Amino acid sequence: MKVKARANSNIAIVKYWGKRDEKLRLPTNSSVSITLDKLWTETEVEFDKNFDKDVIEYIDGKFRKKEILRIIEHLERIRNLAKINTKARVVTRNNFEKAAGMASSASGFAALSLAGSRAAGLNLSDKELSILARQGSGSACRSISGGIVVWHKGEDNQSSYAEQIKFNDQWGLRILLVKIKDSKEKKISSTEGMKKALLSPYFKLAIDEAEKNVKRTVKALRENDWKVFGEVVEAECFRLHMLTMTSKPPIIYWKPGTLEVFSQVFEMRKKRVEGFVTVDAGSHVHVICREKDVEKITMKLNKIRDVERVLVSGIGKGARVI
Ligand code: DP6
Repeated sequence: MKVKARANSNIAIVKYWGKRDEKLRLPTNSSVSITLDKLWTETEVEFDKNFDKDVIEYIDGKFRKKEILRIIEHLERIRNLAKINTKARVVTRNNFEKAAGMASSASGFAALSLAGSRAAGLNLSDKELSILARQGSGSACRSISGGIVVWHKGEDNQSSYAEQIKFNDQWGLRILLVKIKDSKEKKISSTEGMKKALLSPYFKLAIDEAEKNVKRTVKALRENDWKVFGEVVEAECFRLHMLTMTSKPPIIYWKPGTLEVFSQVFEMRKKRVEGFVTVDAGSHVHVICREKDVEKITMKLNKIRDVERVLVSGIGKGARVI
């Protein structure tokens, strides 16, 4: 059977940066993310008895050997669940460049989990899909349900999954994806970076803080408290990068353009144009703001020499078959 699915990417508000079980990808802390409507991966999976091996194709680009092996491992998880041993053909494409801090593994493994499980004859619930996607890439478990999502760190494989938070958007929440020039593919993947973070002397403290920030975020969303929400967004960005910078050896994902964006966003805030910055494992900045400020912030950031472009995203939907 052949099934095609689309999943949107997500940007973490409370960051996942550390595993307590590498194989199962169980995180050291819970996290929260916003699904992005502008970035997605589309993946088609076909299982056929006539295939003698798994074939993985990436339209408009190339997968590294390591990435292909990771996809095949995920097919293996799906085959185990469906109790089949048929080989598959996977064809995938992103509408954005992968591995530059724009979280392609999140949308990638979410789309693969949905398309793959359906093509294997399974009809998994969102929770089951989230558990499956998590094992491919942690952040992928947050790209199943759409909207704003919390990933409960859980106790074991079955209790570590993500689900949508109830949120009545009175802000017109927007995410500005600010692409910094010359940002080649990130050199240190999230998987590698996280391993090194465990050696940071601040790790334990950072984990406790993340759990508090999950609670603060959920409360701020429920109460539509923009100020607290914004504070947590930035605190979490700097918590993650404090961990990367104090890893052994240190990792610095930022570029000069990243800092220039921070400084402009902070300046605008003094004039009540309120955006809040966050950065994943790369140099690009996501500015979280309200609809009323999109134009002013975009115009200002587009003038920065090191900014290639600003893409305006809203809140995206969950993974779906197309
Ligand atoms: C910085 O989900 O890519 O984007 O589980 O090893 O595949 P693996 O890591 P991944 O890590 C994402 C890290 C982050 C923060 C986040 O999305 O929470």
